[in-house]
Amino acid sequence: MDMIFIELQKNSNMPLYQQIYNQIKQDIIDGKFPVGMKLPSKRQLEDFLGVSQTTIEMAYDQLTAEGFIAAEPRKGYYVQAIEELSYVQPTKNTLSIPTKMLNEPVHYDFSANSIDTEHFPFTAWRKYARDVMDPSNAHLLLLGDPHGDFELRQEIARYLYHSRGVDCVPEQIIVGSGTEQLLPLLIRILGKDAQYAIEDPGYLMTRHVFSENNGQTIPIAVDQEGLDVKALQRTNATIAYVTPSHQFPTGTVLSAARRTALLNWATSNSEFFIIEDDYDSEFRYRGRPIPSLQGMDKGEKVIYLSTFTKSLMPSMRIAYMVLPPRLLETYRQAFIPYSSSVPRIDQHILARFMADGQFSRHLNRMRKIYRQKMYTLTEYLTSYKPIVTFSGDEAGMHILLHIHTDRTEQELLEQALQAGIKIHNLHTYKVIQTRSVPSFLLGFGGLSEDDIRTGVDTLFRVWNIKKATAPTQ
Ligand SMILES: Cc1ncc(COP(=O)(O)O)c(C=O)c1O
Repeated sequence: MDMIFIELQKNSNMPLYQQIYNQIKQDIIDGKFPVGMKLPSKRQLEDFLGVSQTTIEMAYDQLTAEGFIAAEPRKGYYVQAIEELSYVQPTKNTLSIPTKMLNEPVHYDFSANSIDTEHFPFTAWRKYARDVMDPSNAHLLLLGDPHGDFELRQEIARYLYHSRGVDCVPEQIIVGSGTEQLLPLLIRILGKDAQYAIEDPGYLMTRHVFSENNGQTIPIAVDQEGLDVKALQRTNATIAYVTPSHQFPTGTVLSAARRTALLNWATSNSEFFIIEDDYDSEFRYRGRPIPSLQGMDKGEKVIYLSTFTKSLMPSMRIAYMVLPPRLLETYRQAFIPYSSSVPRIDQHILARFMADGQFSRHLNRMRKIYRQKMYTLTEYLTSYKPIVTFSGDEAGMHILLHIHTDRTEQELLEQALQAGIKIHNLHTYKVIQTRSVPSFLLGFGGLSEDDIRTGVDTLFRVWNIKKATAPTQ
């Protein structure tokens, strides 16, 4: 223990030594000071609290006499076990961990949110980290631009223009620690009267954030062409949240006709906006890249959101939004006192990583790796047709698996989980529970090709689904 903060009441009738004694004793009883913990030396505590040495000595002597602490010659004072003291009742914080949170053994993790960690460019990242952590960058220890440092926003703007056709200047970009952290900020600037339409099925986190912050959300069905814009038009929604390049979780792409219809909807009222979540557009394996809605928008109607969670790592917690110029001033006014939620050191490591072309190199490499994993998975699943079909295999790190059986989604889910196979069923992502073929999200980003094959085999064995073509003898 470096120091003990004790708020001393100098005007109190209780002597200072007793106030110090009381607080240390209580912290030991409450378990805040664990057995064996070393207390600060008398001299250190005297300096820190601005009291005389005698005051500290009297407090420590009293604690020693009562057995709460003991002195070890030439070492210092240590907290003693108090269970043996019959006159104190430990009131330890007995925070219990719900059993559900304790890890069940997972043999195959098909969650959609894991990424490949084996091919992360550690060497390059370490180099930029070392470069940034240099005394010449001492200014990075101080607070930076509340919207994110310009160097990073400049790199993001360049990248977005070249790879996503997003038309913006760095000043429009706000960097924040994750999409889920940026959304509440957006909600605040969009005002209390905003009504949020969300995709159904859709990303759970967004639904959660919108309902937590604003109450009601309006679910809009998603079909083969993406969000049903006609259904959106019939609601009183003012904001539409969409994942147009790769709908989460179905994997569909918003068709050209619906894109135009959506933009027209937004243009029909000055209060209407589209939130475009472009979370994993880097990983498209077939067809031409899908241009961003933001790039098509001529009326400052699209708020573009994206993240480094899929493209680099979820733990870094860096995402960004591109605000239309007319919302920028509202944002500035609303958040003048806020500092950036992303550490500057991380921002600069990332900015250098991007500026040197390492990010593009990493994306090209990962695209090949994920494409190969997608191929392995879908090839393997093909041998289980027609009971097993799949969709959403043109992009991203998950597919939707459909099981044509008379068993229910819930039954299949439970069987998989009991066998240590982590998957998520489609109904979890739905607001309106329509009847459909049992379907599951199968994420493969974090699995090796071998694990994909054995995981799929194990899953189908558990579900008692056999390959369509028996191996030839
Ligand atoms: C639809 C969607 N949006 C955004 C994200 C990323 O969110 P964050 O930036 O908070 O990690 C994900 C991650 O899985 C996602 O699926």
